[in-house]
Amino acid sequence: MNYKKAAAKIAASVLGADVITSEQAEKLMTVPPSPDMGDAAFPCFTLAKALRRSPQMIAKELETAVNSGMKDDAGIFRRAEAAGGYLNFYLDRKALAESVVPEVISKGDDYGRSHEGAGKRVLVEFSSPNIAKPFHIGHLVTTALGSSIERIYAFLGYETVKINHIGDWGTQFGKLISAYKRWGDEDAMKKDPLNELLRIYVRFHTEAEKDPSLDDEARMYFKKLEDGDEEVRGLWQFFVDVSLKEFNKTYALLDITFDSYAGESFYTDKMPEVVSMLEEKGLLEESDGAKVVRFDDDSMPPCIILKSDGTTIYATRDLAAAIYRKRHYDFYRNIYVVGTPQALHFKQIFSVLGKMGYDWADDCVHVGFGYVRFPDKVLSTRHGDVVFLEDVLRESVEKTKEVIRNSPTSKNIEDPDDAAEKIGVGAILYSFLKNGREKDIVFTWKDILDFEGESGPYVQYAYARGRSVLRKAVSEGIDYKDADCGLLTGDEEFELIKLINSFESAVREAALRYEPCCVTRYVTDLAQAFNKFYNTCGIMKETGDIRKARLKLTECACVCIKSALYLIGVRVVEKM
Ligand code: ARG
Repeated sequence: MNYKKAAAKIAASVLGADVITSEQAEKLMTVPPSPDMGDAAFPCFTLAKALRRSPQMIAKELETAVNSGMKDDAGIFRRAEAAGGYLNFYLDRKALAESVVPEVISKGDDYGRSHEGAGKRVLVEFSSPNIAKPFHIGHLVTTALGSSIERIYAFLGYETVKINHIGDWGTQFGKLISAYKRWGDEDAMKKDPLNELLRIYVRFHTEAEKDPSLDDEARMYFKKLEDGDEEVRGLWQFFVDVSLKEFNKTYALLDITFDSYAGESFYTDKMPEVVSMLEEKGLLEESDGAKVVRFDDDSMPPCIILKSDGTTIYATRDLAAAIYRKRHYDFYRNIYVVGTPQALHFKQIFSVLGKMGYDWADDCVHVGFGYVRFPDKVLSTRHGDVVFLEDVLRESVEKTKEVIRNSPTSKNIEDPDDAAEKIGVGAILYSFLKNGREKDIVFTWKDILDFEGESGPYVQYAYARGRSVLRKAVSEGIDYKDADCGLLTGDEEFELIKLINSFESAVREAALRYEPCCVTRYVTDLAQAFNKFYNTCGIMKETGDIRKARLKLTECACVCIKSALYLIGVRVVEKM
């Protein structure tokens, strides 16, 4: 039930279509600052000029007209009241409960889902780790964020494609091959490939600082790789294979899959076409032996397409990738979930596409995010000071196991290891999606596993609590299917129902702004409202009809918490 829309429709129909349409009215609708001022407010200020009356007068006139109409049809609103240029609408609690609760029960996991994206394809590129460099914590942020954005769009009915644009090409492979030939240890490589690759990669950088000729050697190897040299190519394939195998372990732990792993190397044979198209369109310019595209806007540095030695770079591959994606998928949106430090890169890519005459350049979106800060620890692959993602996830799971072992209710948990994995991994995902993505994430175990604070475990606990009440009801033979939802009119019940009702709008907002934190905040508010209801209303302590109605509401809250958590990648547990 979209009651803002309903209120807008009422206001618009009273005013008449020549004054305002209901769509326009809906855009103006707001929420009053406090509950005693109603549940939806229509501001009359913008109408004053056209109607040549004060906003206060318009609101007053609307009040009379709306209230006299309200009596005839048993709508969702009890009354409307003019206050300071606003028309405030008061929901009818009984009518709202009778509309929302049965809808949630009948739709179940589909509650909140919509079809607004039908027929539109949205590509979400995320994760995209670099081969032979460790999957570090920043990659977890793109993985969490991208997967959530994909789930949110799919929930709204879009056809989504999850792309992992693996970093499997580029000059770092020249370095790696040079390093492997010099210092590679085959045994270590078999045992712990990512660490071994990291070790030699770090060593390369240290040694190259002393002996710059190593960089020339690396360039030579990368050139060989681009030219298809068999031995060099074989080594490259080996690095790719072992790395992917390791990455997949992490994805399994996160319950994430991809539709495409077409990484940078996939586009190597698609680049010459891009270069010649740029050439034909007269966009390529010489610059110190390199070929670049310049922008009219001087504040943006030129985009390098071909380096002086003729090798192509990251940007060229991204141009080829975007063009390929448009041809292959004919996307409605092409979303890149990549850290904010690459914002300029994407701005350049999208501008070059625009200069090439592709109007779909405007459908490409870079979704950036901030750094993860470990109080007093900096992250960088170059210097080997890395926090391994899998270690972080495992540590979270281990810490959760400890909490579970010490908890008085844990003996009820059938599979503690499974629960610990869902809670531990969920706790990290939640913490990454808790705040706006542009903000830096401050990572501390204290906050992440705080079962009482704003955390994943807190929300999961609310769900488990609800489920345990429902199980108890079943075991006592209570059938609440035919409960009278109209009884759910208390303050806590009303607040909870209003929140359940706003699930869809939270999801839509998240999609619009590419901000899963809208869903994280929503589900946290929902868990809090449920806990308040649970603590205040005493569900199983009651008897008869009111108990049945509250059980039904409990089921609604569980359905909604589960779906919202799913959208941020967090799995639920039945017992905690
Ligand atoms: N592999 C890159 C990195 O780890 C991210 C790739 C981003 N995607 C892209 N289409 N350029 O920094």
